[in-house]
Amino acid sequence: MIDNLVSKRVQELKSYKAESRIQGIALDKNELPWGLDDKVEEALIKSIKAMKFNRYPDSDYTELKAAISRYAGIEKQSICVGNGSDELISLVLQAFINPGDTIAIYNPTFAMYRIYGSICGARIWKYDLDGNFELKPDEFIASLQEQKPKLVFLCNPNNPTGKELALSEMEEILKNTAGIVVVDEAYFEFSGVTVLGFLSGYDNLIILRTFSKAFGLAGLRIGYMLANPLIISYIDRVRSPFNVNAFAQAAAVEVLKNLDKVMERVELIKSERERLIVLLKQLKGIQCFESKSNFILMRSPYSDEIAERLQKAGIFIRKYSSTKLKDCLRVTVGSRGENDKFYETVKEVLYERA
Ligand SMILES: Cc1ncc(COP(=O)(O)O)c(C=O)c1O
Repeated sequence: MIDNLVSKRVQELKSYKAESRIQGIALDKNELPWGLDDKVEEALIKSIKAMKFNRYPDSDYTELKAAISRYAGIEKQSICVGNGSDELISLVLQAFINPGDTIAIYNPTFAMYRIYGSICGARIWKYDLDGNFELKPDEFIASLQEQKPKLVFLCNPNNPTGKELALSEMEEILKNTAGIVVVDEAYFEFSGVTVLGFLSGYDNLIILRTFSKAFGLAGLRIGYMLANPLIISYIDRVRSPFNVNAFAQAAAVEVLKNLDKVMERVELIKSERERLIVLLKQLKGIQCFESKSNFILMRSPYSDEIAERLQKAGIFIRKYSSTKLKDCLRVTVGSRGENDKFYETVKEVLYERA
């Protein structure tokens, strides 16, 4: 009886299963390997002590928006915050999609565009990236003109490939698309490339960012959106009034006060990423893709065995079941010690296979 009452769209969905492990070396969710910096933690504890938990959080996000505004160099009216950028993806779809409208995504890309898109009844058009996970801009634009999507999701750098589009390519897409272009910059701090400069010239642009990656606040669920004030006002119509809790707001404010520390860590991850790529590329039996992010995609005919052996060693990475990502594994760049353990295990398997 309940089954028949559930909406058709939900009947067709499977629930997204995320690993909820807290043991071992977690290199599967593109998180930062370190907890809060001591100074930030101390300041946060102080601000928590002053909080009144019986009261709802500030629904205008006054302090947080001021901090994001300084960080991004953009007016407060162009900012919306969310319970992770996941929530913002969902809000964008709720605000713009009528059942049957088309959204454009690449294949492969971050899964939540498709999942939230399906929930809203969107028709999902996928652009197949080539065998090296590259996009051909001219071909992509020609298809967009044919498909006429209301929303185009550009994940930049793309998760799980780590590849990014050039600014000029994204501008071409913006210019040649009648719909809204959502650029997901979840990994912006690791790539340094942003379309922020296009916001004043293109009112069909939405940028999504998160505190879960470079800022190390994945557990608190907080992200933000940058767009023109009119778009923000529509998103505000579908947003819950208290969507980001007081604790998360305070933590984001504190990490933004300590940007030097954040950037120091970002530099460490970037140099570890490059070190790991050089090492992996020397191994036979594995193809390793360049990455502009805090993770690396690899392809190997021994992917199952590698994942299994890593798991036995208490190291967890991301496996894939889709045809497009056949034989692929994605590893998050961790601390130096974690990366060494990961690399040694992969090397062992491949040496045995050689
Ligand atoms: C491309 C991309 N966008 C958004 C998210 C979601 O981030 P958040 O933790 O802010 O919801 C992720 C998380 O892995 C991601 O890879």
